[in-house]
Amino acid sequence: MKRTHHCNELRPAHVGQTVTLAGWVHSRRDLGGLIFIDIRDREGRTQTVFDPSALPADLFARAAGLRSECVINVTGVVRNRPGGTQNTKIATGEVEVGVTGLEVLNMAEVLPFPVDDPETAAKVNEELRLQYRYLDLRRPEMARNLRLRSKVATATRVFMDEQGFLEVETPTLFKSTPEGARECLVPSRVHPGQFYALPQSPQQFKQILMVAGVERYFQLARCYRDEDLRADRQPEFTQVDIEMSFIDREDIYALIEGLLKRVWKTALNMDLPTPFIRMSFHEALNRFGIDKPDTRFGMELVDFTEEFRATTFKVFSGVIAAGGVIKAINAKGLAGATQGQIETMTEYAKGFGAKGLAYIKVESGEWKSPIVKFFTAEEKAALTAKLAIQEGDLILFAADQWLTACEILGKIRLYCAEVLKGQGKLTLPVDQFNFLWVVDFPLLSFDKEQNRWYSSHHPFTAPVAEDVPLLTTDPKKVRGQHYDVVVNGVELGGGSIRIHQPDVQRTIFEQVLQIPGDMVKARFGYMLEAFRYGAPPHGGIALGFDRMIAILCGTPSIRDVIAFPKTAKGTDLMTDSPAPVEPKQLRDLHLDLKVAKKD
Ligand code: AMO
Ligand code: AMP
Repeated sequence: MKRTHHCNELRPAHVGQTVTLAGWVHSRRDLGGLIFIDIRDREGRTQTVFDPSALPADLFARAAGLRSECVINVTGVVRNRPGGTQNTKIATGEVEVGVTGLEVLNMAEVLPFPVDDPETAAKVNEELRLQYRYLDLRRPEMARNLRLRSKVATATRVFMDEQGFLEVETPTLFKSTPEGARECLVPSRVHPGQFYALPQSPQQFKQILMVAGVERYFQLARCYRDEDLRADRQPEFTQVDIEMSFIDREDIYALIEGLLKRVWKTALNMDLPTPFIRMSFHEALNRFGIDKPDTRFGMELVDFTEEFRATTFKVFSGVIAAGGVIKAINAKGLAGATQGQIETMTEYAKGFGAKGLAYIKVESGEWKSPIVKFFTAEEKAALTAKLAIQEGDLILFAADQWLTACEILGKIRLYCAEVLKGQGKLTLPVDQFNFLWVVDFPLLSFDKEQNRWYSSHHPFTAPVAEDVPLLTTDPKKVRGQHYDVVVNGVELGGGSIRIHQPDVQRTIFEQVLQIPGDMVKARFGYMLEAFRYGAPPHGGIALGFDRMIAILCGTPSIRDVIAFPKTAKGTDLMTDSPAPVEPKQLRDLHLDLKVAKKD
């Protein structure tokens, strides 16, 4: 018995045909002496009916012994379902198969969790789902995610090919060159005491490919980063990694807008409007308090530094005198927050460096706040006008240096949005995708603890040409030719135009980032050398492929779009990895373990 149709294929047009279906027992119902089995395969499900009056007793008995998820072949004749029993929820719902033959290909034990009911499955503990990932992936929602991922990967490859890009594979046994996140190291057996590192991204190889004359490179590249994991971060993940020669930023924007347009059309049949808006890093911080703004809702940051210049409220006047700013947001509809809730919010803000979180609750026509007593009529009028204050509003203030004040309110803005969503006061349409480019990032950021500059993106990012002289005189003012593509508050991708002149690259490494010359030589010497043999101007970008699929699938966690992801602790619960290895393996690798005991 060989399958003739898949389980999402039969329609009234097939009535009268003898067919064979193969798949899993999705559900079994015994009704009025008949047994109804929904058989499911990757494509869908079909109802089959076992009638004891038309079947040999042993065959009927075998059907009665089947339980969920047994693997079967059924042969039978397609017929219309009796009037009133059609199921409009499934594509094969008008027909059923009257069974004449059954082959049990394999039995299944009782499952640790059901896979046939989305409601129950959604409540299953994620650890259990990950331990039995092969069952979890049988769930139609997960199967849909995998399918969409595959479809988008193909659409990406087709689009990039049309645009003249070559897919080139780069090594995943690379060398340690700290780029930001901690690396995964692989000890060498042949070279005692030496290590490979898994690449955080193919950054250096793709730049070298430009020197090699490839001109247009892309890769669905696996990257490894040993960083603290969250819903949107995995220790290994996939990038759509891209690099191009003889281009400027505009070429990258146009290419990526074209690619995303194609992907959204393929996956969701949606026409994304392009070009995407562009926002400077400064504007993103100033208005939304974050470099990946979610522009689907307002609650923007408003500046009141001028209005409070003469205030008698010491907290504000002190900050202004120290060159800081006063910023506020209006969380509409949150005036009902209790004292406890405001305290929780204040503690949350303090976690990001806030010294406090002054507030005004607008309730019963009154401004309830420990600080309004300090405000003049003009100051209140300015607040009312610029924040459009109404009954029911909660106004929250951050007084600090510009960047800190923005970042604190940026976090509080997102926090309030979550609370409002929970209360049903903010709903964001599932088919709204607010894309934007964030541009003009500072090339460098200052690390106060280590008292030195570090690259905001990575050390290969080119400064804006006219800012190059400032590199050694006023690094803070240097803008980088770096761009991020952001959608609905998620950083989907980032890239830059690169430095292609070896002397500028060396200045960045040695004078600006203060990496000692011998270390630069050991880590990046081959790159600096390559650039001396005719490096074309080039630039590129990498999109987080898992994040893109998660957005398309409407799930907040990239674990839902990766076949075999790791837990937040970096473990694989199905294979039970990481795991200890045999002493002999360690000896072969010239390793001697001294593992500190955990207390
Ligand atoms: P960047 O580090 O910004 O740039 O990474 C690019 C994109 O990769 C995704 N991403 C991740 N996705 C899942 N889990 C992670 N741990 C993770 N880390 C990053 C994000 C991010 O926007 N070589 C440069 C790109 C370039 O300059 O061309 C790079 O890797 O969506
Ligand atoms: P205080 O006078 O320190 O008791 O503060 C009065 C109010 O101002 C409290 O609600 C504090 O949370 C708040 N506050 C204190 N410092 C700041 C700050 N830097 N920014 C915003 N609010 C603050």
